[in-house]
Amino acid sequence: MARRRQIYEGKAKILYEGPEPGTLIQYFKDDATAFNAQKKGTISGKGVLNNRISEHVFTLLANIGIPTHFIRRLNMREQLIRQVEIVPIEVVVRNVAAGSLSKRLGIEEGQQLPRTIIEYYYKDDALGDPMVTDEHILAFGWAAQEELHDMADMAIRVNDFLSGLFAGVNIRLVDFKLEFGRIWDNDYARIILADEISPDGCRLWDMTSNEKLDKDRFRRDLGGEVEAYQEVARRLGLLPEGA
Ligand code: C5P
Repeated sequence: MARRRQIYEGKAKILYEGPEPGTLIQYFKDDATAFNAQKKGTISGKGVLNNRISEHVFTLLANIGIPTHFIRRLNMREQLIRQVEIVPIEVVVRNVAAGSLSKRLGIEEGQQLPRTIIEYYYKDDALGDPMVTDEHILAFGWAAQEELHDMADMAIRVNDFLSGLFAGVNIRLVDFKLEFGRIWDNDYARIILADEISPDGCRLWDMTSNEKLDKDRFRRDLGGEVEAYQEVARRLGLLPEGA
């Protein structure tokens, strides 16, 4: 096969030119980073699992009417996606206190939040992805008012759906990160869900034991990373029982 042109290489994924205009191929690596890439490692087999888990989740979200960049999975590590203009904002949705929220506000990890909280972070590696408010996003033109509204609305719908999906397999959806992109149609831009949804960007705790089934195993040197990702895939019905 002809060598594809690489468009972008991120910490956990590579984007290649797709077969048709307006498409890209998203390749899932085994590389893992944490704390703004200060900690680096490899989780052997992670890319295959994230490709499969993200395919499953994006397909289910499309079924409930969330527009996404996902077209189809191509092989173990690649999926065909729509090319978008990425909005430089990470949207974090939190149901339970953990991670940076616990650290910043001194709220004990595991405490149920009185309501779901949405946070925005400006995507900038050099700045360490600082938290920003909607005021910053609008003032600096990173997204328009209507786009911000669409992103928040979709984030809540995704949270409601995924909280139920994971609760059904005895997993608590503690928090997660979403990214969105624009699709241009003449002068009009539409916001769709982009990137991936996998244990790399979600906190997933077993509801009975509170065992962490996500990237915190890597961030906190707990070990058993790939087994945790496999467990998520298995509970979602994506791996044979006993695998
Ligand atoms: O670190 P923090 O508590 O802010 O992370 C909140 C959620 O967003 C976690 O599920 C984490 O995996 C995700 N996240 C991410 N990528 C980042 C920052 C956070 O996937 N750059």
